[in-house]
Amino acid sequence: MTDKLARLNANVKGQEAELELPVYKGTYGPDVIDVRALTKSGLLTYDPGFVSTASCQSRITFIDGDKGQLLHCGYPIEQLAEQSDFLEVSYLLLHGELPSAREKDNFIHAVTRHTLVHEQLAEILKGFYRDAHPMAVLCGLVSAMSSFYHDSLDISSAPHREKTALRLIAKMPTLAAMAYKYALGQPAMTPRNDLSYGGNFLHMMFATPCEPYKVSPTLAKAMDKIFLLHADHEQNASTSTVRMAGSSGANPFSCIAAGIAALWGPAHGGANEAVLKMLDEIGDESRIDHYIARAKDKKDPFRLMGFGHRVYKNFDPRARVMMQTCNEVLAELGIDDPQLKIAKKLEEIALRDSYFIERNLYPNVDFYSGITLKALGIPREMFTVVFAIGRTPGWISHWHEMLSEDYRISRPRQLYTGPARRDFVPLTER
Ligand code: CMC
Repeated sequence: MTDKLARLNANVKGQEAELELPVYKGTYGPDVIDVRALTKSGLLTYDPGFVSTASCQSRITFIDGDKGQLLHCGYPIEQLAEQSDFLEVSYLLLHGELPSAREKDNFIHAVTRHTLVHEQLAEILKGFYRDAHPMAVLCGLVSAMSSFYHDSLDISSAPHREKTALRLIAKMPTLAAMAYKYALGQPAMTPRNDLSYGGNFLHMMFATPCEPYKVSPTLAKAMDKIFLLHADHEQNASTSTVRMAGSSGANPFSCIAAGIAALWGPAHGGANEAVLKMLDEIGDESRIDHYIARAKDKKDPFRLMGFGHRVYKNFDPRARVMMQTCNEVLAELGIDDPQLKIAKKLEEIALRDSYFIERNLYPNVDFYSGITLKALGIPREMFTVVFAIGRTPGWISHWHEMLSEDYRISRPRQLYTGPARRDFVPLTER
């Protein structure tokens, strides 16, 4: 695997020593130093936030943050967004190769045959308050799925893992729309397997039993593209959470529920909702400078939401496609959204500002996805849920990849800085 070594001079158990560590080269990306043997020398590495840590090997997705490049199994995201669709990309992530025409048909057929959810899940839904955040509902319902589908819970079986993948990709939009309809007090709509993946989601969101919803092909395509753009992003916080939960041998539904929980935060998938809140708060172009100043002020916790990324130090390629989709959706619907004008102005000002230039802070995918989703009629609380639907094939592909190879339970160590050993003091003496 390697003929390169990194040498580390360190004090090992009281003696100066030179340790040799293997260095691996991937297809792309920085070389990786294998530090696993360090623990035998009584040493650990320290990397809070995993800034310099490769937690696994993966063949699924590659990001070149400096170039602003995103590849799924080698294919650039721009080409996939232009020429492929969400279910085809889901197949690619799961299998590592694009499907043949027959494989694609079979995959779509299999996914659409799993769109219904068990009736009993609706009873669990009723336990939630009507005003519960749909991410809380989705997390709960996905976790509950592990108590329904006992026929595919053997994680050592590849066919079981495949069935679970199909179920999760197929049922996620159904559960998401159920959560939305429940909040409205409307009956959940039965999935329509004659529609596309994106079209069916729009149908379940907006149709009612008394009034069918005519799905616009342009909007269904835009919905599909939004899912596609979120399909995978290598070892991000939620995917790493899914892998970590999976490494203990936990069942797949609880692993995905853990991923949903990690996605919810505003620094990750919650950013799309936070962008619109921020644009609301800014309210007018004349107030942009004030918010830029706040984002730069280290004493102010305010950050420009939808800006910056741990890996991208150049434009997020998904943001470019999303901006184009946003423009198409607004044109199709004839919407002149003042928030888009504020967003464009904000982007223009930030990209000229030395604070953002020096820190390589560019718009990320969430900067334009919120405005697009809003134009599609998706309520703000559902934005992160849409992200979760899109990310499901990525999560399940990483879980599947991990279980298909040798793996160990994820168990990081720590730099302990607490009190030294001391004796217990009885309550009466404290
Ligand atoms: N606004 C203002 N300053 C920022 C921002 C921002 N959005 N993002 C980073 N910075 C500054 C940060 O204060 C720091 O400055 P300094 O070096 O002077 O201390 C520097 O840039 C580096 O930031 P960091 O917090 O160390 O970077 P990170 O890699 O830990 O965080 C991030 C990445 C995405 C959490 C962060 O950029 C952020 O909070 N962005 C806003 C939230 C957001 O849009 N998240 C969606 C990410 S894309 C969707 C997804 O894949 O989840």
